[in-house]
Parts: sequence; C-alpha cells; structure tokens
Amino acid sequence: MSTRVTPVGGLTDEQVHSVVIAATSASLLRNSQSWRFRCIPGAIGLYADTARTVPVADPDHRELLLACGAALFNLRLAIRALGVHPAVQLLPDPNQPDLLAIVRLQGRSPAGPVDRRLAEAPPRRRTNRPPLAPTTVPLSLLNGLRQAAKIEQAWMATLDAAQLPILRTLIAQAHDTQQHDPAFVAEWSHWTGRDPASADGVPAFEPELLIAVIGSFHDLPLAHLQAGQAMQRVLLVATIAGLSVSLLSQVVAVPATRKQLRELIGGGLWPQVVLRLEYGSPMPLTPRCDIEDTEVSIMLVGDHGRL
Ligand SMILES: Cc1cc2nc3c(=O)[nH]c(=O)nc-3n(C[C@H](O)[C@H](O)[C@H](O)COP(=O)(O)O)c2cc1C
Repeated sequence: MSTRVTPVGGLTDEQVHSVVIAATSASLLRNSQSWRFRCIPGAIGLYADTARTVPVADPDHRELLLACGAALFNLRLAIRALGVHPAVQLLPDPNQPDLLAIVRLQGRSPAGPVDRRLAEAPPRRRTNRPPLAPTTVPLSLLNGLRQAAKIEQAWMATLDAAQLPILRTLIAQAHDTQQHDPAFVAEWSHWTGRDPASADGVPAFEPELLIAVIGSFHDLPLAHLQAGQAMQRVLLVATIAGLSVSLLSQVVAVPATRKQLRELIGGGLWPQVVLRLEYGSPMPLTPRCDIEDTEVSIMLVGDHGRL
C-alpha cells in the first residue's frame, strides 16, 4: 500500500485510502469518474472534475452532481464506519464552485448497527441492466427505501401500474430526442465507446415492477448533491435487501420529458433519476481506476494545505 496520502483527522494513510476507495465505488456517470478528492490533515475535499463533463447530455452538471453526491454518501459512511464523525459542508466556497463538499473529521464514537450494515454494502452494489423477474417489494422494505431518501433531504416517489405505460412513452420520446441530436450521439459514443442506439433503449415495464423516482424539493446544485446522496442511500438499502437496481436517466435528461415526468409524480418534486428495482441475479463489478497507481482520484497537499 502506498504511503503518499496525507493522514486526515487521525485516520492512517491506509484508512484514508480505504474511505476514498469506498467513495469511488458509487454509481458512475457514463463510465467516467467525475470526482476528485483532496486530503489535508483535518478534512477531505470533494471536487467535481470538470474535465470529465458531458456538455451536451448534462449541460448544467446536474448528473455530475448526482454522481458526486453518491460518492460523498459512500465517503461519509466509510468514515463513520471507522468510528469517526464526518461533518459535511456542501458547496462551502462560492469562489470555488468545483469544491462540492468539505468533510471534516470530528470526534470519535463507535458506529451504530445501521451505519455498519450500510457501510458493508458498497462493494456489493452494482447497476443491473438486463430484464429481471417481476417484483413484489414488501411494504416494510418500500417504506425503508422511502425513509432512506428522506433522511438525505430528498424524496422517493413510486409509480403505480396505471402510470407505467405513460413513463414508457416518455422514455421512448426521450430516447428518440437524443438519437436525433448528432451532438448527443457523438458525445455518447466518445464516452461509452458504444453505439448510442444500444444505449439505454426503452425497457418493458411489468405491472409488478417497482419504479421509483428520486426527486428533490428544488433544482439547484445543492439539491442535486442531496439527491445524489439520497440515491446512494436508497441503492445501498436496496442492495442489503437483495434488490437489483437499474438507473434510467434519459427521461430526466431531456427537458420536455422531465417536465411531463414531474407532472406525473404530482408536480411538486423535481425528478432527478428514475430507479427500476427488481429481484435478480448478481452482475459483475464495473472496474474503477486504481487510485494508487494513477493518483487520478486523490490530490495530495502538504501539512498546511487548504481546500
Ligand atoms: C446520475 C446517473 C445517471 C445514470 N443513468 C444511467 C442510465 O440512464 N442508464 C444506465 O444503464 N445506467 C445509468 N447510470 C449507471 C451507470 O452507468 C453505472 O453506475 C456505471 O456504469 C458503473 O456501474 P456500477 O453502478 O455497476 O458500478 C447512471 C448513473 C448515474 C450516477
């Protein structure tokens, strides 16, 4: 194990590595790790990596902030599992818009059972895309998933059987809009190396499917970071319960279909991402950059560094 990382707030360099690795196992955006971590003695800074943005598909960085929010949730959780309290300040400096959060390490006490269980889930979580078995999610689990979103200052709305055909139409519309945009097609191929026609497609929806929308109460960067953390908490609660989840972001990425989806879920929430939850077979892990070899994810600063 490399010893190059600045120890943070009493964590050893190995522990700093482990919490950053946990953070980077969050859901990715178009297979790119659009985050950076900067360690100083008392804190870890989370930065957006704006060199890895997708300006056509995500012009206002909304999806980038969702992905970074998910990484932040994993980071908080991994720190908490080590018995340290992570005090998080979101968007702390208006002069540094890429500095998304400062996580200060404050005080020690053993993590409770909920945090310990959640902290074991990130290595097992992965996005599941193939069609799976129809699902009846027990009410207690559904309430647990809703509660997970609420704890992170967001909301999880679910769609009933009558709303699923409308969602399917909206996804088809969003897919069509993106396919007819040459700039989107070029950007998609660049980031994924795949033919965009094979991108997400329009999934079939069985009436028993659990389709949920993670929504926020406003649509500013702060809400996107909160929704990303909520998404990750929901994904980990689902992972522990043995549910597979796929993410459907097309319908939210296209403004016209996002507006209609917003109406479909009652008009009050801003939809951020659609989740499809099913019981299914495990998927292989999507590889991440090796932070020790590449230093892609961690920036190092000296003992007196500032974020
Ligand atoms: C904001 C956001 C939107 C996403 N949208 C989609 C999507 O529309 N379709 C899809 O198949 N995966 C989507 N994903 C999932 C990523 O493609 C997936 O996380 C990545 O391939 C890494 O795989 P893993 O989640 O199994 O680690 C999204 C992820 C994020 C963070």
